[in-house]
Amino acid sequence: MEQKKRIFSGIQPSGDLTLGSYMGAIKNWVALQDDYDCLYCIVDMHAITVRQVPADLRRRSLEQLAQYIACGLDPEKNIMFIQSHVAEHAELAWVLGCYTQFGELSRMTQFKDKSQKHADNITAGLFTYPVLMAADILLYQTDLVPVGQDQKQHVELCRDIANRFNGVYSETFTLPEPFIPPMGAKIMSLGAPESKMSKSDPDGCVFLMDRPEEIMRKFKRAITDCETAVKYDRENKPGVSNLLTIYCAATGKTMEAAEQEFAGQGYGVFKPAVGEAVVELVRPIQEEALRLMKDKAYLESIYQSGAQKAQALAQKTLRKVYKKVGFVAR
Ligand code: TRP
Repeated sequence: MEQKKRIFSGIQPSGDLTLGSYMGAIKNWVALQDDYDCLYCIVDMHAITVRQVPADLRRRSLEQLAQYIACGLDPEKNIMFIQSHVAEHAELAWVLGCYTQFGELSRMTQFKDKSQKHADNITAGLFTYPVLMAADILLYQTDLVPVGQDQKQHVELCRDIANRFNGVYSETFTLPEPFIPPMGAKIMSLGAPESKMSKSDPDGCVFLMDRPEEIMRKFKRAITDCETAVKYDRENKPGVSNLLTIYCAATGKTMEAAEQEFAGQGYGVFKPAVGEAVVELVRPIQEEALRLMKDKAYLESIYQSGAQKAQALAQKTLRKVYKKVGFVAR
């Protein structure tokens, strides 16, 4: 039997999961779980690179796990765990940091953006964040990293670090590749459809756990344009195109079918229809997530066994690394 390729990905519990994280990431993870050997992580250590309210971070980390499962990620098929539970992430990050140039980190566009946004709190953690991400990926000898466009630069850096380390010490790390899944829908902000839907922009953002009224309100207020035609045209009609993308992702319909369905109908009919499709899509996910949140013992058993399995893999890599750099064996 051929060895399955390994996949690693993670989402920061720095805010609630959005419709964009579901349609753009988690839905794909679910589609990959049978054909790949997958680790899906709740990257709480990344989240503290900007200030978090401790109680919120703790609650959201658990909710994120419940929502991963409610979205269809099967804990029997995937390793699901919380990053801070596997100490090897921090340990490998330290070593890799010693093989990463200051200049390389300075060039990361996300660092430049975030340090502008958090100008009063530009920490060393924010700066070295891509090194921790490289550790996440390399610890598990990952082949493919499903990420959005905004994370590609970090995966490239991870490859560079791995390559450098392998070059100095002999083959140690698998070189990972960014993996933009074929059916990944990039969901844009409902308020500013030129930018990606983001949890830091509550107006343009639909959360997976939003109440139906809230979802309807957000879709009815979504930015469109001053025409009337429901047509897909990313360039000239970004708002309408985004709504069509969401509609198709929610219903499984093709773009042509969706355009036909709303031909001659105008936005007053179209926007609430998209809202309703989303309400129907998230209803069973919400019910299951709420049910799981009441079963703390179950969630605990999942993240504990996840961390155990992840750690067994991580230890293997870290041991090799420590030996190669010249640390005395314990
Ligand atoms: N940096 C990623 C983000 O903000 C999250 C992340 C952390 C990640 N470690 C990772 C994604 C490893 C993929 C692989 O979206």
